[in-house]
Amino acid sequence: MSCILVTGGLGFIGSNFLNQFVPKNKDAIIVNIDSETYASSKLSTSNVINYSNYKYYKIDISNYSDVKNLFNSYEFKNILHFAAESHVDNSIEDPLVFAKTNVLGTLNLLESFNSYKNLKNKLFYHISTDEVYGSTLNDSFSENSKYEPSSPYSASKASSDHFAYAYHKTYGTPIIISNCSNNFGPWQYKEKLIPVVIKSIIENKPIPVYGSGSNVRDWIYIDDHISAITFLMKNGKIGESYCIGSNNELSNIDIIKKICLVSDKILNKKSSSFNLVKYVKDRPGHDLRYSINSKKINSLGWNPSCNFDESLEKTIQWYIFNSNWLK
Ligand SMILES: NC(=O)c1ccc[n+]([C@@H]2O[C@H](COP(=O)([O-])OP(=O)(O)OC[C@H]3O[C@@H](n4cnc5c(N)ncnc54)[C@H](O)[C@@H]3O)[C@@H](O)[C@H]2O)c1
Repeated sequence: MSCILVTGGLGFIGSNFLNQFVPKNKDAIIVNIDSETYASSKLSTSNVINYSNYKYYKIDISNYSDVKNLFNSYEFKNILHFAAESHVDNSIEDPLVFAKTNVLGTLNLLESFNSYKNLKNKLFYHISTDEVYGSTLNDSFSENSKYEPSSPYSASKASSDHFAYAYHKTYGTPIIISNCSNNFGPWQYKEKLIPVVIKSIIENKPIPVYGSGSNVRDWIYIDDHISAITFLMKNGKIGESYCIGSNNELSNIDIIKKICLVSDKILNKKSSSFNLVKYVKDRPGHDLRYSINSKKINSLGWNPSCNFDESLEKTIQWYIFNSNWLK
């Protein structure tokens, strides 16, 4: 039986990945490791804990000896590396923890993976972000865009991308990197824009909006990101990176308007929740616009399939019906 390692599988994207991947891959042992930070939730993987091919260990990837022991116990064929400190605001408050997890943690995994005698047919898949490219006014990010991270978060992710590339170039480590745009869907921690807005609407509290709300994000539904990752595991070329997006650029204020409209309908609200919007002081170094050009992965045969408005409505319904989790 082959073994697959998923890091950060109690987080938003990792848990959604496991919920889809574990049931479809009963012929593989799938090991999830997570240090259980505030952003993790064991509830998010409750659908897979009873699968006999699923194993979970509480491990901090920044602890080299714990990571190395794990790699000594299992011969992983594939590593899907999701674990990260992921919230930009926190990275402004405490950059060191971002360097520890995102840079040192990734390096510990690469180093442990590299110590296997035979790396043939193996893969280290590093999940990264479009934020490594900084902000763009006119063009879209592609695999050739320059790395220009603005926040300590994006700088730490850029650094981990560079380490992954460097291991490939120096040691021939089989890596693939994907840089994806902003994800949305169930199980996203309540600090991120979409859950923040829904929580405020449910609680009838101010919806905080940075600056003028004109910052543009390129949104992708979680299922499309996961289908792109599973596609690249099979079809991606070793040593290359892929930009993943689904052409849904919206300013923050426009997505908030949409969330208010849908939520008000579901909650049967009499007055518009958009009145709850409260503009607050902008975040330092706030990137104005992200935009993804996914032509490279599209040319291999992957395309997004989720309709944006339907996925947003499904997501809002999920948060409203699981509002206890938001608390
Ligand atoms: N959310 C997005 O929109 C988005 C977009 C592009 C790329 N990404 C990338 O995808 C990955 C997953 O993002 P997410 O949104 O699921 O993040 P998340 O914050 O929801 O989850 C991260 C998970 O990693 C775990 N973790 C943190 N530090 C750890 C450590 N030292 N050791 C082990 N586990 C640790 C946390 O406990 C948590 O369960 C990240 O690498 C992120 O950079 C996210």
